[in-house]
Amino acid sequence: MLQTTPPEAASYPTVPECGVIELRGDPITAERYFSPEWADAEWQKMWTRVWHIGGRMVQLEEPGDFIVHNFLKESVVMVRQQDGSVRAFYNSCQHRGNRLVWGEAGGVARGLACSYHGWLWGLDGVLLDAQDPDDFPQGSPCGKLKLKEVPCAVWGGFVWYSMDPEAKPLLDYLHPIPDLLAGRGLDDLVRVVWRTVKVNTNWKFSPDNFNESYHLPTVHPQMRQMIDEDYKNTVFDMFPNGHNRMIERGQPSMRADFPNMVEPVWEMMLEEWGLDPAAYEGRARDGRLALQAAKRQGAADRGMAYLDRLADDELTDYFHHTIFPNVTITGTPDGVHFFRTEPLASDPEWCTFDYWYFVPRIAGRDEVATVYGMRPYEEAEHEVSTYGESSGGHHLGDFIDQDLSVAVAQQQGFHSRGYSDPYLSGQEGRVRRFHEVLNDYVEGRR
Ligand code: FES
Ligand SMILES: [Fe+2]
Repeated sequence: MLQTTPPEAASYPTVPECGVIELRGDPITAERYFSPEWADAEWQKMWTRVWHIGGRMVQLEEPGDFIVHNFLKESVVMVRQQDGSVRAFYNSCQHRGNRLVWGEAGGVARGLACSYHGWLWGLDGVLLDAQDPDDFPQGSPCGKLKLKEVPCAVWGGFVWYSMDPEAKPLLDYLHPIPDLLAGRGLDDLVRVVWRTVKVNTNWKFSPDNFNESYHLPTVHPQMRQMIDEDYKNTVFDMFPNGHNRMIERGQPSMRADFPNMVEPVWEMMLEEWGLDPAAYEGRARDGRLALQAAKRQGAADRGMAYLDRLADDELTDYFHHTIFPNVTITGTPDGVHFFRTEPLASDPEWCTFDYWYFVPRIAGRDEVATVYGMRPYEEAEHEVSTYGESSGGHHLGDFIDQDLSVAVAQQQGFHSRGYSDPYLSGQEGRVRRFHEVLNDYVEGRR
């Protein structure tokens, strides 16, 4: 089945008009994971046409604040304007091409100054100042030249840009994801983890991996006590623009050691909301609806008013949204996980993997649990590392480390003459769908 009809009892955001999408069955060839020609076609036909996330609005508090996003050999700078809006420009001086801004972020008073001949570009991209303006036979460049601008828009507290001057409006491109995430208050969440890891695998491992729950029992066995990965209980949606959604129930999996008994993780989750674990022995999964009711009742008292904005199922379940091509946003009852891969310029067999974790503010708390332990409730510093370089290769917390470990192993397998088109389960249809949308771009159908 390609798309699950919402069960009648479901309570979560839906988009009824999206319909069922049929797969063509395009083969998922090996060379797309390592060939420079494929990587180049992706750059020419896909990356230069889609919307990219450049950073967070919270990094652009004042006029003159800017963020830089480097992508392969391209670089774009996004600048907060006097009127509060954000504009994006290619990071290249219009005098003789010097890269204008170095570093990830910063703030300037009047404009961006070039380090080569000192030209000063205003926040709106228009040249304010140049040395010897009267020595240009074609006329002074000041007030005349402008940085090359690209489409830029804000959604979900993220600053987006596209290198396609004809890009469709961001909200049309993202449809229906903004509707599905409407209750999460993404604009106001605090990014308490901001990590970038260089990984020896092609960037497509991330959309492949986050489009199925089939790997959970093997790769994340510890999740069995609280996430039901069974495809029969999971909702799989595919949407026309290439985005997908997968909803897993927050309840013990029948693959848990004692699925009807209350195992330690589930016990802790019930107790946290004042439920007596003993009452759920032999019927552990009934705890899911009980948890929904307890959260509905107790949220305000605990300073968790944000739970009131969520639908009942969102109080317990896991909502994975994959945004074509490279972003995954997972809503959980506690916070929002963000995963993204981007190719590295030097080699299609390397990518960067970004993991950001966002949480709502909870009155009276100054720390929050993350996969890297307790973190203060404040915007995190950017941490950068390379997968496998620290002791034992397992320096990343928990489930992320588990996903990355298979990512590098699968990349090796793609090189084997033994690899051919995958033999996919029904729920992995969305893996093929991702590649079909990618093919549509690369072959010029989108
Ligand atoms: S290249 Fe920027 S001022 Fe000359
Ligand atoms: Fe995973």
